[in-house]
Amino acid sequence: MANSFTNLALFSSLLLLCIAVSPSVAFRPKALVLPVTKDSATQQYIAKINQRTPLVPVKVTLHLGGQYLWVDCDQGYVSSSYRPARCRSAQCSLSGSKSCGDCYDGPKPGCNNNTCGLLPDNAIANSGTSGELASDVISIQSTDGKNPGKVVSVSKYLFTCGSGFLLEGLAKGVKGMAGLGRTRISMPSLFSAAFSFDRKFALCLTSSSSPGVVIFGDGPYVMLPGMDVSKNLIYTPLIINPVSTASAYFQGKKSADYFIGVKSIKINDHAVNINSSLLSITKDGYGGTKISTVNPYTVLETSIYDALLKAFKKSLSRVPRVKPVKPFGLCFNSTFLGSTRVGPGVPQIDLVLQSKSVYWRIFGANSMVQVKNDVSCLGFVDGGSKPRTSIVIGGHQIENNLLLFDLATSKLGFSSSLLFRQTTCGSFNFTSNA
Ligand SMILES: *[C@@H]1O[C@H](CO)[C@@H](O)[C@H](O)[C@H]1NC(C)=O
Ligand SMILES: *[C@@H]1O[C@H](CO)[C@@H](O)[C@H](O)[C@H]1NC(C)=O
Ligand SMILES: *[C@@H]1O[C@H](CO)[C@@H](O)[C@H](O)[C@H]1NC(C)=O
Ligand SMILES: *[C@@H]1O[C@H](CO)[C@@H](O)[C@H](O)[C@H]1NC(C)=O
Repeated sequence: MANSFTNLALFSSLLLLCIAVSPSVAFRPKALVLPVTKDSATQQYIAKINQRTPLVPVKVTLHLGGQYLWVDCDQGYVSSSYRPARCRSAQCSLSGSKSCGDCYDGPKPGCNNNTCGLLPDNAIANSGTSGELASDVISIQSTDGKNPGKVVSVSKYLFTCGSGFLLEGLAKGVKGMAGLGRTRISMPSLFSAAFSFDRKFALCLTSSSSPGVVIFGDGPYVMLPGMDVSKNLIYTPLIINPVSTASAYFQGKKSADYFIGVKSIKINDHAVNINSSLLSITKDGYGGTKISTVNPYTVLETSIYDALLKAFKKSLSRVPRVKPVKPFGLCFNSTFLGSTRVGPGVPQIDLVLQSKSVYWRIFGANSMVQVKNDVSCLGFVDGGSKPRTSIVIGGHQIENNLLLFDLATSKLGFSSSLLFRQTTCGSFNFTSNA
């Protein structure tokens, strides 16, 4: 039965049964859309999923490199369609679980006998626990890439039960985390399996009051006033880190995070002097560059951070500096900075990728943070001298950039600033055309 939702097309003989459990099977969406807002108090990106029977909205913090969806089952989880995943079931093996157990305070959601266990983690508080793998109904809006369409549902959507304490550090009202990472049970993998669409998804985040989006499935991805932002992307290979970067994990697990191969950094076309061995991933899983939605700003290993600040300061020496405002180390009197279509007029920062001609260019809107009326700071922070990952590209640096994660071909497509194209990630037309 576990396979009946993973590949409906192959199980035509089960079609009748599937219709009984999944009323949306007659309409097969090509893509799904999830609005994402930014919580100003925590700078977390928040989505609302509809889960359970009867359906309830559940707020979750987006975790790009997260392994799967987990929600708190300790408090107020009520659903007639909750099903724990049994030990040695197909669902259990899909999840890569290496644990199986009993629970003595149940039965209740999160506590059943003979169930498959995983290790849900909170990447913000750096905490983890063990939790029951389970399935329940989830519903989400389909899209044609331009507007939201019909609501569709997955009847046996796999997730993990977290605990109340695992919510510590998450935004107010949030009940779990939505993992979009490189696993077979992350949200992109499960949705593409459920509806047989391409294993890819687009992430387009914003800090404004108009929500950004995650679109599961292939493009077009159209932003007002009618621009398909999946066009003209630059592509770079996604790299696998052989050692899990989660706060809790089973021995031998690969990282679910999205790593890319940054080879050097340039400011106004001049190479920043950094130790390039920090940019590759060691066999112990240290070093390299990943993209994160749980870090509000890009975090750099100390020597890279120092070199970047020095080079940036030098190329902007004409602008008066002011006392740094935490957590930043380099701030300017912004009344002296010109303004451009892509933010304050500051030197561009290039993350050079697989060849000199392939780079991710970061303009003022993504490099600078306006901390006060007349103070603007370089929005990168110091990650210490022995961090697990040398460069963690954070939320501020990816806002208003479209990122297309193609899991099947292991490639990342990126747009650089959409402000150049006179649109934003907050410009999806959320008027339903269902
Ligand atoms: C699990 O099994 C034990 C006995 O093996 C039993 O005491 C307990 O009540 C069961 N718990 C649940 C949740 O069914
Ligand atoms: C560069 O970084 C590597 C890895 O941390 C370190 O072993 C090496 O000593 C560094 N080289 C220099 C010149 O600092
Ligand atoms: C920025 O420069 C203006 C104009 O010289 C000045 O009035 C203001 O006090 C400066 N602000 C800071 C924070 O230094
Ligand atoms: C948004 O989509 C709706 C439904 O297709 C359409 O009627 C409306 O004109 C669109 N809004 C804009 C600003 O284009």
